[in-house]
Amino acid sequence: MLPLLLFALQAEVTTPPARPPHFTSDDLRLLATFSPPPDLPDSPTNAVANSPLAAELGHALFFDTGLSANGRVSCATCHDPKKGWGDGRTLSQGLSILEKNAPTILGAGHNRWHFWDGRADSLWSQALQPIEHPDEMGGNRLAVAHHLQADEALRSHYEAIFGLLPDFTDRTHYPENALPPPVNLVFGFLPDETQTESSDPRHIAWKKMTSADQLIVNTVFANVGKALEAFERNIQTGEARLDQFLTDLQEGNEKSLALSLPEQRGLALFVGRAACNLCHFGPRLTDREFHNIGLGVEEGKNFDDGRPAGIEILRLDPFNGRGLFSDSTQWKDNIKLRYLFYDYHTYGAYKTPSLRDVGRTAPYMHDGRFATLEEVLDHYSELPGGPPIGHREETMIPLRFNAQEKADLAAFLRSLNGTPVPKRWRTPPAEKLRTKR
Ligand code: HEC
Ligand code: HEC
Repeated sequence: MLPLLLFALQAEVTTPPARPPHFTSDDLRLLATFSPPPDLPDSPTNAVANSPLAAELGHALFFDTGLSANGRVSCATCHDPKKGWGDGRTLSQGLSILEKNAPTILGAGHNRWHFWDGRADSLWSQALQPIEHPDEMGGNRLAVAHHLQADEALRSHYEAIFGLLPDFTDRTHYPENALPPPVNLVFGFLPDETQTESSDPRHIAWKKMTSADQLIVNTVFANVGKALEAFERNIQTGEARLDQFLTDLQEGNEKSLALSLPEQRGLALFVGRAACNLCHFGPRLTDREFHNIGLGVEEGKNFDDGRPAGIEILRLDPFNGRGLFSDSTQWKDNIKLRYLFYDYHTYGAYKTPSLRDVGRTAPYMHDGRFATLEEVLDHYSELPGGPPIGHREETMIPLRFNAQEKADLAAFLRSLNGTPVPKRWRTPPAEKLRTKR
């Protein structure tokens, strides 16, 4: 008798219901916010965000290793179209290994903030940071200016969009390599760039430049970012099977097969008992803000502050939406900058990633610690350990998924891949750029 009873209990846990899950009217209201995929928001701080000519220049720059110090790293090294526009690595590697996983740039045009800690408020200002980051491309804004000037095709294309490229040939005004020293982040104090000590000759060269010359170079550098943004705005996937399923559901077709039965059960769990939608909601399946989900860090290993540091860096960034190089500094176009705020509860918080295309973008989390979606789900299931800084959000409780639930949720997540990016953007430009004047 006893073995039979055990068998019956086990069968109850492991055999999924054969019927599709029923979605209540409350579920349907919530699910209506998940689809269709939204239109790209405007980017008012970048006047050329929607310019096809700028997108072409950005396309060339994205695949251009000439922006890096060793001539071997481009944006596409770490945002490789063949690897879901990430690099497939746990920690990203440019000139050296970084402390973060490279997020995909698929759909980045929809982001409210960029980087895991949200330290950039626009795609164009974001793009300037990897060019100069010593571990990523190790380049600098003067070298970029000289590169544009030396490459006839790039220069004429630049000029067709932004007007005459300033003459950078006079090396007494425009040294070969120069960039400002990094800001010395002291929370609550405004660092003074001129006070930052650095023996790096490129920093010294920058400090020796007149502010008028610095302004000219910064303007060109910002324009490079703006062209890169115009390109990146095209890197979006189309509809996923979820969208078809939700359209069917809203039209009263409960028998839709756009999602398989396991995927449907995964969706029901996602918005049901698992409440993933607390943070992953809306058409991009993200609240576009920051949370501490309590990922532990081994004793002695590095970690950072997450969002608070992101806010401090963003406030000081001369390329933010309220700065000199923005094409609209009005508050109405930068309202998100007005509400920058952090406190004890925001430490250790990272950006909630979009879950669209998540099946293409392994490994996962800001440090790429999870190789598979199943490993991500194990985290939400058990919530082991605690974060090295701040605290895990109290809304989170261990969800204790059984094997069936885990498989269903993973299947649902994999159903979120959209139709591919058009081929012309996935490959480097076929020929050298030619001016379209
Ligand atoms: C060495 C690898 C590497 C290179 C080269 C690189 N990136 Fe990244 N990228 C990363 C990593 C790692 C992050 C996340 C860093 C962080 O959040 O601190 C990132 C973040 C981003 C993001 C933000 C995405 C998001 O969801 O927050 C965008 C957009 C982006 N990169 C675009 C670019 C562009 C454009 C270039 C070329 C100018 C570039 N990247 C060069 C590794 C790289
Ligand atoms: C309290 C908010 C919150 C809840 C609830 C939540 N997430 Fe997340 N999710 C995040 C944040 C924040 C990250 C990034 C954390 C990091 O890298 O430090 C994340 C990361 C992920 C990732 C990795 C994506 C990537 O590109 O790296 C997946 C997959 C994911 N969540 C799925 C889920 C699922 C499934 C659930 C429900 C079981 C869920 N999340 C519940 C906030 C949340």
